[in-house]
Amino acid sequence: LRTLFVFSEMAPYSKTGGLADVGGALPVALGQLGVDTRVLVPYYGCPAMGEMDWRCTVSVPYTDETAELWSLTERPQILFLRYPPYYERDGGPYQNAQGEDWPDNDRRFALLNRVAVEIAQGRVSGLDWRPDIVHANDWQTGLIPYLLDLEARIGAARPPVLFTIHNLAYQGRFPPRAMASLHLPAADFHWLGTEHYGAFSFMKAGLAFSDQITTVSPTYAAEIQTSAFGMGLDGLLRSRSERLSGILNGIDTIHWNPGADPYLAAHYSPQHRLPGKALCKSQLQSSLGLYPEPGVFLLGMISRLVEQKGTDMVLDILPDLLRRGMQVVVLGSGDKSFERQLLEMAAAHPAQMATRIAFDEGLSHRIEAGVDAFLMPSRFEPCGLNQMYSLRYGTIPIVHRTGGLADTVTDADDFRHPLQRNGFVFDSPQSDALHHAVLRAEALFRQPALWSHLQDQAMAGDYSWQHSARAYLQLYYEVLVRHSGGGH
Ligand code: ADP
Ligand code: GLC
Repeated sequence: LRTLFVFSEMAPYSKTGGLADVGGALPVALGQLGVDTRVLVPYYGCPAMGEMDWRCTVSVPYTDETAELWSLTERPQILFLRYPPYYERDGGPYQNAQGEDWPDNDRRFALLNRVAVEIAQGRVSGLDWRPDIVHANDWQTGLIPYLLDLEARIGAARPPVLFTIHNLAYQGRFPPRAMASLHLPAADFHWLGTEHYGAFSFMKAGLAFSDQITTVSPTYAAEIQTSAFGMGLDGLLRSRSERLSGILNGIDTIHWNPGADPYLAAHYSPQHRLPGKALCKSQLQSSLGLYPEPGVFLLGMISRLVEQKGTDMVLDILPDLLRRGMQVVVLGSGDKSFERQLLEMAAAHPAQMATRIAFDEGLSHRIEAGVDAFLMPSRFEPCGLNQMYSLRYGTIPIVHRTGGLADTVTDADDFRHPLQRNGFVFDSPQSDALHHAVLRAEALFRQPALWSHLQDQAMAGDYSWQHSARAYLQLYYEVLVRHSGGGH
């Protein structure tokens, strides 16, 4: 079985969030199950050109653009799409250094989608490879199902497409005239096509034309079919509910392993947690200038600092947590006002609170290992990876009951599932509910035997990709059977 994955970011080469972690790990996990995979991803400047080999040139239909595919010798499955005017810029994959969306994101990602279709249709000479199925991810790849539908309309055979929603909040919306400038038929700009509340939407195109839709947790799959979480697309998703399911993400258990993590001052395992975890805590405290007190309740947060993640709720309760003597460390970046408030709070309480506005892989590992509990009060969370990193590191997550957080964390007081208890879960996305959960967590922390038992259960969970990769493989076969039977 041959699968072409298309991602707009892929760890370790490019990353703004969890999408990149999935891009880095899921194709590998499927490869281990015998799937012949290729991953198409834009080349943003990493790895160094000197480390890569040129594979072939692709001329992009309807444009005068000529792009190139490059690969690492040791990882030929990854096809880096090189088109310097679009992807090799100072700034991030989607935004400039000031945090504004690149104004030509429609053209930038249309190019990625067009090249994916050229590969899918076997028109890239020099590649000698054609997929049985295409696996597209998030709005940046939403035109692929649509472009393949256009191929089918002129009688061409085309592979089926599975489209995965990683976050419905980002939809790739552009003015209607963008369709014409991308040489797409204006006749498809309607409510059953690419139109969404007056805009031309990549996400809508992906959802409307794909053969199968998945999202990254079962709970989020149900939530996005409601108006509260559907971001205006719930009607379409309800109408396609038979083709929509949720498959929980895994985590890279080699990269995130407290027993061998190269970023840590000490290592530990589920059976031998102390003194390793205690050493990680004191090392984290002293490196951030926090008072190095082992008995203090230390909370961590690593996040894009945006409303989705509940940063405002954390800001609301911080003064009280600090007054009670707790310590807090926050790593992230995003909304400038959240950044400023978190920096001010840390400046006013330097021995108790540290804020780092950065993207720092090493520090993120040291926080996961060093803190006692991890804050994730997201208003919605399609899957969420940090709570799983926390669990694996014996760090207790405190989460809002939503999306993948609901599917991975079971409250310490849940009497129905005593063997799965591994964290603290609150029901409404409000500051006082979060506050109450943090106080419950601290109370349990003061009872070392009970806390240690919770850590045992957290660390005992299986968060690897194996289970999810098998679920995707099963779904690929279902889609292929349906597709070859001519069904829709
Ligand atoms: P999302 O994709 O919505 O941002 P996830 O929890 O799925 O949320 O994934 C976020 C990923 O990005 C995790 O791997 C997390 O460790 C990482 N991350 C987020 N912010 C930072 C940061 N400031 N420094 C290092 N890693 C970060
Ligand atoms: C998105 C979601 C996050 C999920 C990640 C990977 O960025 O916000 O919840 O874990 O994608 O699927």
